Amino acid sequence: MGKFVVVDHPLIKHKLTIMRDKRTGPKEFRELLREITLLIAYEATRRVPVHKKEVETPISKTIGYCFDDNSIVVVPILRAGLGMADGILQLLPNASVGHIGIYRDPETLQAVEYYAKLPKLDDSSVVFVTDPMLATGVSSIKAIDIIKERGGKEITLISLIAAPEGVRAVQEAHPDVEIYVASLDDHLDEHGYIIPGLGDAGDRLYRTK
Ligand code: URA
Repeated sequence: MGKFVVVDHPLIKHKLTIMRDKRTGPKEFRELLREITLLIAYEATRRVPVHKKEVETPISKTIGYCFDDNSIVVVPILRAGLGMADGILQLLPNASVGHIGIYRDPETLQAVEYYAKLPKLDDSSVVFVTDPMLATGVSSIKAIDIIKERGGKEITLISLIAAPEGVRAVQEAHPDVEIYVASLDDHLDEHGYIIPGLGDAGDRLYRTK
């Protein structure tokens, strides 16, 4: 089963508590989402490949390490995942970015792709999918399906808050994918909202309600 990690750090807990507060407005919400994503990405990027590089300090030569930036791909799931991409790009500024848009068909309840623009993917690509709320897992599973169809193999899902139901669903569909989150919440309600969660992440980011 893929690794599931709750990045349990006081800085993240503090910032997430402000995000959960219904009085927090979109400006602060966006800033905090970017900051927490950066902190999760610090852990989630541990397996990013590095190569050795000689470097000359003022005293002597030594061997250092560099990222293979061009193998890294960040894929936000539209639209709330967009709010997380910048946090990863702050750490990995030369990463490529793909975008995947998915909606849930109200009749069939199936995830339907309406947009997918991805850079070229191959065995060496290290892909980070962002979706702040891992609720049912339906959108994340579909996004990972698309990434695999296009050749991506090493895939990590980064979310802010997960419901146990969503984690289970992604792990069952894609046991090879690692999942990193800031919090594992209690459960999903009958409308698919995470309890206690933070409400609708897209609406809070973009003030659409
Ligand atoms: N999407 C959200 O934005 N919030 C939830 O609680 C569940 C899914």
